Amino acid sequence: DFQYPHTFILLGASGDLAKKKIYPTIWYLYRDNLLPEKTKFIGYARTKQSVTDIREKCKKYIKLLPGDEEKFEKFWQSNDYFSGTYDKRVDFEMLNQLITKFEKGPVANRIFYLAVPPTVFEDVTVNIRNACVSIKGFTRVIIEKPFGRDDISSSKLSNHLAGLFKEEQMYRIDHYLGKEMVQNLMTIRFANQIFCPSWNRENIASVLISFKEPFGTEGRGGYFDDFGIIRDVMQNHLLQILSLVAMEKPVSLNPNDIRDEKVKVLRHIRPIKQEDILIGQYVGNPDGQGDEKLGYLDDPTVPKDSVTPTYALATLFINNARWQGVPFILRCGKALNERKAEVRVQYKDAPGDIFNGHAKRNELVIRVQPGEALYLKLMSKSPGMTFDLVETELDLTYSMRYREADVPDAYERLILDVFMGTQMHFVRSDELTEAWRIFTPILKELEEQHVKPVPYRYGSRGPLEADMKLGENDFKYSGSY
Ligand code: BG6
Repeated sequence: DFQYPHTFILLGASGDLAKKKIYPTIWYLYRDNLLPEKTKFIGYARTKQSVTDIREKCKKYIKLLPGDEEKFEKFWQSNDYFSGTYDKRVDFEMLNQLITKFEKGPVANRIFYLAVPPTVFEDVTVNIRNACVSIKGFTRVIIEKPFGRDDISSSKLSNHLAGLFKEEQMYRIDHYLGKEMVQNLMTIRFANQIFCPSWNRENIASVLISFKEPFGTEGRGGYFDDFGIIRDVMQNHLLQILSLVAMEKPVSLNPNDIRDEKVKVLRHIRPIKQEDILIGQYVGNPDGQGDEKLGYLDDPTVPKDSVTPTYALATLFINNARWQGVPFILRCGKALNERKAEVRVQYKDAPGDIFNGHAKRNELVIRVQPGEALYLKLMSKSPGMTFDLVETELDLTYSMRYREADVPDAYERLILDVFMGTQMHFVRSDELTEAWRIFTPILKELEEQHVKPVPYRYGSRGPLEADMKLGENDFKYSGSY
């Protein structure tokens, strides 16, 4: 299909996501000649502005390499901008005319990226369907969370979309699925016989999946307070990782075969109970300097009595033959001591101890970011005359083995996938249904009972109680996770 004209329409072109992420991404794809040669980009938003204005706004977020200038000019020449409302069909009819102008030849394809607030998802998609679908090729729609805020609103949105587009046309982004190490999970698990037979309840004690961020809500408090960390990170990014760690081997690498297995493993998880979750909210760090160290409730866009969690630790159990009884601990938080996303698969203690308790557990660590790495912690004899044990690693740190350029950005990869039509790394609607089934009851309970989150200091490791929870869930804590 790449020889035909393609139009990439970015709705919400004046917003934050567009300027910080999507424009830079399409520029990098364009620069690296990864897109079809005849690709036209159209920004669409309510603001009256020109391509030059957009270019100016994006400047801060695009890194130009020496020699890029000429191509960069050409990139902006391939851009256009159209100002219109999100709810009036007539504006979309005009947008359609603009797109049609570029579509020479018998085949032409269209990709719509919805970088708009969820309040206009429904209007925008109806208008695309009524006024803008391609009559000479494919129409694909990229949409990003929030996909509702509970099971009911999410299924309403899913039904709405299903009435307009086929599932093959829908690309629901969870950008964690675009990350190198998340994509590597299936390879690690299914291409290595060393892991295949031990990946189960007989050998694995617990699995910890963590997301840590060293900054607070910083200006996004208004949005965040409506959602909280469970909806913002845990219900999507961390649960997606969990499905890839825990699913059975798919029949093939066909996207639907993979997603069938992901849904299946989610179906084995019962909704989370209150005793399986710990929530926290960061407070100001009096030793810190400047605004950044203010507490969540000090954010002027956050209600003073908000009980929205900025930290959560939840234990999930998968009730199937492979995993029964093995705790999967999901842990995420903002305003913590570091940026880190990783999976720790902790093996059981080796039975029949002859080392007087000095042998620690094996652990397979999959570091998603920063600094992609895969390492296996194991026990070895300390070299020398003694017979002491030492914990060491088989270490595949990407920066030592590969070039930085070998690891593309998540959005680049995902947007390119949409051009190519592969849905392997996108969320299917039934996955979403299962995710909400697991999380809706606990979200409701916490909100209705106005459960107070445990305070933790900005820049700390999170609530102290969280470490205890790890111990209770058969995760032997050593070092600083
Ligand atoms: C987004 C969340 O989905 O992921 C943000 O809405 C979070 O709150 C972000 O900061 C983290 O993404 P990354 O790629 O920086 O880990």
